[in-house]
Amino acid sequence: MQTLIKQMNADNISRLIKNCAVVFCLITAGTALHAQVSTTLKPITKITPGTVWKDTNGEVIEAHGGGIMQQGNIYYWYGENHAKGEGNKTGISCYSSKDLLNWHNEGVVLPKEALPVAFRDSGACERPKVIYNDRTKKYVMWMHLVARGHLEADAGIAVADQPAGPFKYLYKTRPIRYNYGYRGGSARTYVGDPEEETKGNTFRDMTLFKDSDNKAYVIYASEDNATMYISLLNADYEAIATPAVLNKTWVRALPGAFREAPAVFKADGWYYMFTSGTTGWKPNPAKVYRAKTMLGKWEDMGNPCAGDEQQTSFRSQPTCVIPAPGRSAGNFIYMGDRWVGEALAQSTYVWLPFSVPADGNIRLQFYKEWSF
Ligand code: DGJ
Repeated sequence: MQTLIKQMNADNISRLIKNCAVVFCLITAGTALHAQVSTTLKPITKITPGTVWKDTNGEVIEAHGGGIMQQGNIYYWYGENHAKGEGNKTGISCYSSKDLLNWHNEGVVLPKEALPVAFRDSGACERPKVIYNDRTKKYVMWMHLVARGHLEADAGIAVADQPAGPFKYLYKTRPIRYNYGYRGGSARTYVGDPEEETKGNTFRDMTLFKDSDNKAYVIYASEDNATMYISLLNADYEAIATPAVLNKTWVRALPGAFREAPAVFKADGWYYMFTSGTTGWKPNPAKVYRAKTMLGKWEDMGNPCAGDEQQTSFRSQPTCVIPAPGRSAGNFIYMGDRWVGEALAQSTYVWLPFSVPADGNIRLQFYKEWSF
């Protein structure tokens, strides 16, 4: 060893030190990089409402105004992709998960190009919801199509053979045409536009609900957002049940209440509906309604939110409610959007657990983080 050292001149020694330093740096950098990657991909174990939620690739989840459909032990989350900003610049995204925490990006399952031109880019495609039809074996998506501001307010229907698409756009419609006697005197009507008046009543914020008897319903804000409509769907879920008969196949559920963002679920023999007020992207107090039958009379149960942010629903707007996995009946998850109107891609998700008590008075509380 001594001989070896003697043989090394000063230059060799300094080169050796430098090389060791480089190797050390590379090892350190490698470890740091590895640490960074594995931090990003570390499985998510908690829900942290209102924070950035990343998918299993470490990318921000883009599924706003979304809905969840469970198929077997897999959950599919469909929603608006706002990565490129407001409007429909991309299409509808789908993510899949077995635990509702770690989401795999299934890609864009209804690209904007699948829709008529009016609903791409500056037009919009909002609040997509998907249900499975056991008879046709198809996945049926309904959505709210927006163009010309909100003057064009239609339902869009698309179907797929697989939950992760691709979905095929079928057609657009305003399913119910009904004279609710509201003509003139308000900027919210289409007075003087005969085409609008023959088209049927507006179709805005919406959801779908599939009951345990396989009957399914579309629930949507109509009459320029004044009244929530609920209609039974036909057997393939691709249209409403016809002939449409008021109080038989459809109802004006919340007449004149100006509610939107409906999210429907069933608990203990009651149907419940979360809704928001109509203040655009700005949050407002939520309200829950309930009814004994989907086409029955809906009762106002008030604002379920408790605590400091009850007037803004924790800065969120409802979009979907699902049963809480692994919990007894009566336990649910509220899914809302915390919109950032000026930069929609920065909008986050507010998911909160709640249960339905015997008297039906739901209390929704905010938790900074929680787990199942
Ligand atoms: C409120 C609706 O709930 C949202 O889906 C979206 O349409 C915004 N209005 C747009 O202002």
